[in-house]
Amino acid sequence: MAKLGVNIDHVATVRQARQTIEPDPVWAAAEAQLGGADGITFHLREDRRHINDRDAELLKQTVTCKLNMEMSIAPGIVRIAERLVPNQCTLVPERRQELTTEGGLNVIRFKRPIAAVVKRLHRKGIEVSAFIEPIAEQVKMCADLDFDAIELWTGGYAHARGVRARSRSLRQLEKALDLGWESGLVVHGGHGLTYDNIGPVAEMEFEEFNIGHSIVARAIFVGMREAVRQMKVLATGVFQ
Ligand code: PXP
Repeated sequence: MAKLGVNIDHVATVRQARQTIEPDPVWAAAEAQLGGADGITFHLREDRRHINDRDAELLKQTVTCKLNMEMSIAPGIVRIAERLVPNQCTLVPERRQELTTEGGLNVIRFKRPIAAVVKRLHRKGIEVSAFIEPIAEQVKMCADLDFDAIELWTGGYAHARGVRARSRSLRQLEKALDLGWESGLVVHGGHGLTYDNIGPVAEMEFEEFNIGHSIVARAIFVGMREAVRQMKVLATGVFQ
């Protein structure tokens, strides 16, 4: 049965819109846990556009379920991860102009610096995952680079328009997922997943989903705890 990681970045995005102290993503993490989150995910970006150093520190101190830090391989961020020691680090691409993480990390193109970061994080006992597109060569390279896990970018599926495009992207995910497990990697999924589109991917063999925007959007109306509870049922089949 899959697990649900809740990405709380968007709570910090609302806070930063006014550069104030509310809403607090650390509170959101506590509420998400009360709603049944199996993990809390945050992305400490180089530009600190939403989550900041204070958040990262407090999340480390207060989150009692799995803590997953999304990060680039920028040296300053890697040093913070080494000091913080979250349960897992997920390496993601990062561009300043993007609205959110767009597409996966190219682990083939950047294999040398990535290999060094994986080694450093492993030395601290941190599990390391790579956010990649569902492409066989990328999956195989993650196994070669000694990643523990991969998170398959589900954005292609989420953005696909029409029945054919949707089933094509589901098949692509399924193939990459099978290859991941066969290569000894734990396989997660995330990006663009919503209450409406989670169904078909929830039936696949994903170990964990990381979902942010849709949950935070619903939380505005029903509260974080309830929004997480509803997604947990859909993503994992677990009623609480
Ligand atoms: N997984 C990764 C690696 C991400 O970068 C993001 C977006 O921050 C998510 C999952 C969550 O995506 P969404 O907010 O679309 O649910």
